[in-house]
Amino acid sequence: MSDNKVILNYDGKSFEYPIVESTIGDRGIDISKLRDQTGLITLDLGYKNTGATISNITYLDGDNGELYYRGYPIEQIAEKSSFTEVMYLLLNDDLPTTEQFAGFEKGIKQYNFVADEMKRLIDVFPRSAHPMGVLSALTSALIAFNPKAVDVRSKEDMDHAAEMLIAKFSHLCAWTYRKKMGLSINHGDDSLNYVENFYKMCFRRPNQEFHLDSTVVNALDKLLILHADHEQNCSTSTVRMVGSAHTGLFASVSAGISALWGPLHGGANQAVIEMLEMIEKDGGDVAKYVEKAKNKDDDFRLMGFGHRVYKNFDPRARIIKKAADDIFAALGIEDKALDIALQLEKVALEDEYFIERKLYPNVDFYSGIIYRALGIPTEMFTVMFALGRLPGWISQWKEMRLHNDPIGRPRQVYQGATKRDYVDMSAR
Ligand code: SDX
Repeated sequence: MSDNKVILNYDGKSFEYPIVESTIGDRGIDISKLRDQTGLITLDLGYKNTGATISNITYLDGDNGELYYRGYPIEQIAEKSSFTEVMYLLLNDDLPTTEQFAGFEKGIKQYNFVADEMKRLIDVFPRSAHPMGVLSALTSALIAFNPKAVDVRSKEDMDHAAEMLIAKFSHLCAWTYRKKMGLSINHGDDSLNYVENFYKMCFRRPNQEFHLDSTVVNALDKLLILHADHEQNCSTSTVRMVGSAHTGLFASVSAGISALWGPLHGGANQAVIEMLEMIEKDGGDVAKYVEKAKNKDDDFRLMGFGHRVYKNFDPRARIIKKAADDIFAALGIEDKALDIALQLEKVALEDEYFIERKLYPNVDFYSGIIYRALGIPTEMFTVMFALGRLPGWISQWKEMRLHNDPIGRPRQVYQGATKRDYVDMSAR
């Protein structure tokens, strides 16, 4: 039986701190009284050893490469569920009954449109604008047209705002795609399910009969499921931090989009494809790039490799890799980038540097290859990640508010100048 407290000996005294139990995974030391009792704070750059909250939503075992949404293994969810059902699961405590699912879908469809004025907003962006910057701005702008969704104080208000944001966000994501392609925007179609509707808003051409390719829609649905939530990652922690000031849901998610954009986080799926294309253009010498990634004097990193928590294969990468094989076979696609990715994976996983640091392919390593096969441009890959992560951001934001988490305000270890008097410029 493990101890239920820890003892800190400091300055000739002993201090006890209780352990917060978990159902699975890390137990935590409750240090809420540490500073009052010892005058000390903790320092943990990047919060590698620090829990920011108590959560019931998603759990991942980084050592064994396992991921659970509300206790359900990602492999079973990816095979048997749908993105809409996963959205319900993350936002509530369990999988929906038939009636609950129908009510949830109906709740989303009532908002399956976006105010006409928003179209004028997207028109002012240059076609060259990065879709993630456009998406973040449009998400913030949604507040102006949905003020009630800003100040959510009750669970009912939160569920209403969630349904509204889920419905409208898929339009904004599709619109950023149409803007990038120089195409007019499409409206939603209530006769379709969520992912079919998104697919049609993206790919329906004004001059052609629209055909829903079920192979593509199923692949999109699976990819969105795999990106839906992932504990307290950088963008989710951003959404929680902004929401902890009681900022509205839409503005909190807009901040999360900007965090996800970073190439060390969700932006890695775009960086992976750019890296694979660079290797291909440079003659396909993967060993050369593995050596570059190992060289401390070279800031090149193997994008799509490594993870703050997974020290084993990211289970999502395994599922996506299999899905890539299936979709390529179904669509009869050959992609040099996939060949290079497979070679890169083989060389890296046999290299001592990567083995020693437990660097494995993560969710971003293969996702871009599939998105490209589905006809999605590289700069849209992180928008696809954002659409998938939306239910995770919302469910974590909702949990933070329902648990009444305090406003986030970390402390620091100061190493700057000590107190000194102002000196007039003439005397400097
Ligand atoms: C996502 O947190 C989440 O859950 C995120 C995510 C989600 O679903 O929300 O899973 C999505 O963001 C996946 C990660 C996508 N990012 C990338 O693929 C970018 C490339 N990866 C790295 O930048 C890095 O691995 C991170 C940012 C993902 C993790 O960085 P850490 O945990 O801070 O690790 P570190 O930088 O301290 O690296 C430890 C060692 C270092 O070497 P040493 O100083 O010990 O000699 O590993 C090396 C690093 O140099 N290293 C790499 C490497 N990643 C780490 N070396 C070469 N190539 C890499 N990709």
